Amino acid sequence: MREYIIPFDTNNTPKEYTDVVIVGCGIAGLYTALMLPSDIDVTIVAKEPYKETNSYLAQGGIAAPCDKFNDTKEMFFNDTMVCGRGESDTEAVNILVNEAMDNIIQLEKLGVKFDKDDNGFLLGKEGAHSVSRIVRSGDSTGKSVMEALYHLAKSRENINIRENIFVIDILTYANKSTGILILDDGRVKSIFSKYTIINTGGIGNLFEQTTNAKGINGDGIAMILRANGIVRNMSYLQFHPTVFYNNSSLKQSFLISEAVRGEGALLYNERGERFMEKVHPMKELAPRDIVSLAIMQQIKKQITPCVYLDITHWNEEALKLRFPTIFGFCQRNNINMAENLVPVAPRMHYFMGGIKVDINGKTSIKNLYACGECSCTGVHGKNRLASNSLLEAIVFGRRIARNIKENIYDIIDNDKDIRIVNVDSSYKIMEDEHTIAKWMGQYFGIDRTIAKVKQLENKINKAYCNAKKTNIICREEIEKVNMISVIKAIINDDLNKKITKKTNLN
Ligand code: SIN
Repeated sequence: MREYIIPFDTNNTPKEYTDVVIVGCGIAGLYTALMLPSDIDVTIVAKEPYKETNSYLAQGGIAAPCDKFNDTKEMFFNDTMVCGRGESDTEAVNILVNEAMDNIIQLEKLGVKFDKDDNGFLLGKEGAHSVSRIVRSGDSTGKSVMEALYHLAKSRENINIRENIFVIDILTYANKSTGILILDDGRVKSIFSKYTIINTGGIGNLFEQTTNAKGINGDGIAMILRANGIVRNMSYLQFHPTVFYNNSSLKQSFLISEAVRGEGALLYNERGERFMEKVHPMKELAPRDIVSLAIMQQIKKQITPCVYLDITHWNEEALKLRFPTIFGFCQRNNINMAENLVPVAPRMHYFMGGIKVDINGKTSIKNLYACGECSCTGVHGKNRLASNSLLEAIVFGRRIARNIKENIYDIIDNDKDIRIVNVDSSYKIMEDEHTIAKWMGQYFGIDRTIAKVKQLENKINKAYCNAKKTNIICREEIEKVNMISVIKAIINDDLNKKITKKTNLN
């Protein structure tokens, strides 16, 4: 395989300096910034506005063991481990469970409003949780959290948020991060920093259809791969079982939250059979991988490419109150949830793999952290438990802030003279991004086989080989290079795991 890394001289670019630079403006990035002391300069750089993040779209809520319904930390720990198929990292899960409630209280202190009554949090239920433990804000928890954190961060003098800026690469020297290289209004610039935090989200847009926000295509993970950083569990992808189905070819698909099944919605196939009863004792609230696979199997046997979600035992008023966003979306698509079944199908939703980090969010590259969906703390194992994603982002985000606070005052050398960085932007991939995303849907779906993955590998290798050299540094081309390198890592991990563990899906 050809080597794509070219040296880039940052001496020729305008330079800026900050203490901590955060790439991406999701919940983990904003929360980490707010948890840092006010004498530390933080620059947040994001290629899309804060509303265009997966965090903003999150519906369900944040899982946490409360003192209600006889819930315990042990029960939450067990649910997370069982859902992760025994592949979750026990130390990381212990941290997640033990620090969950503290961080929710911290969010409240920062101005986030969760649904409550006189007895405390109103808790939702979602798949594979043994009790109701989802702290929520209506059916748009992500939006509530993000609005509060973003506006607070905007008001802080030490935090500078710069949206619509594309990050080309991280700057590294001798396995140490020294900042980032950005494309700002068509100009290449460098931002040097003592610490860099990657918070670029998952990889949803590598697929033809996804619940993810546009622009989420693994940029931060590709940067780490170029800098020879370590990634982990790259083939562990999660397909959400109940995504609104319509026959449009729109990439961004609307989620029908698992919380709807948590409130009693049932799944039916096109013959009106409640198929989950035969699949798992938890039925519609079985772990996500099981529900998604079961739906896929039904779809393969049917004429219609979707199954149906039924919550018609609720009345319109109650539905509008509990699920205002979802009810409104369905209504705009001519479905009244109180009267009609909602067509749903599984779609690419979440990435359990990513940049390998330790329990303080540290990557394998010195002075470089990662948090949120782009990172792999190991808590989710092979299959994430519902509403553990925002939780992971805040728990490990705060740990990163603490770790930086303990060390930053000792750093004197900001490596201001480092010039050579890894830039993988000088190639033009000839295939368009839709073709690449189509391949992923076709060959790397829920029902993938070794044969299909190998077919995908051939196509991706060809795309690599057909790439043409170019001098133009442009966002769209770099994004495609990023997509291809992340897909290659996904394929390698998948084939390695299947071959070494003999766990193929054939
Ligand atoms: C949902 O509301 O179903 C999504 C929550 C999650 O992905 O954990």
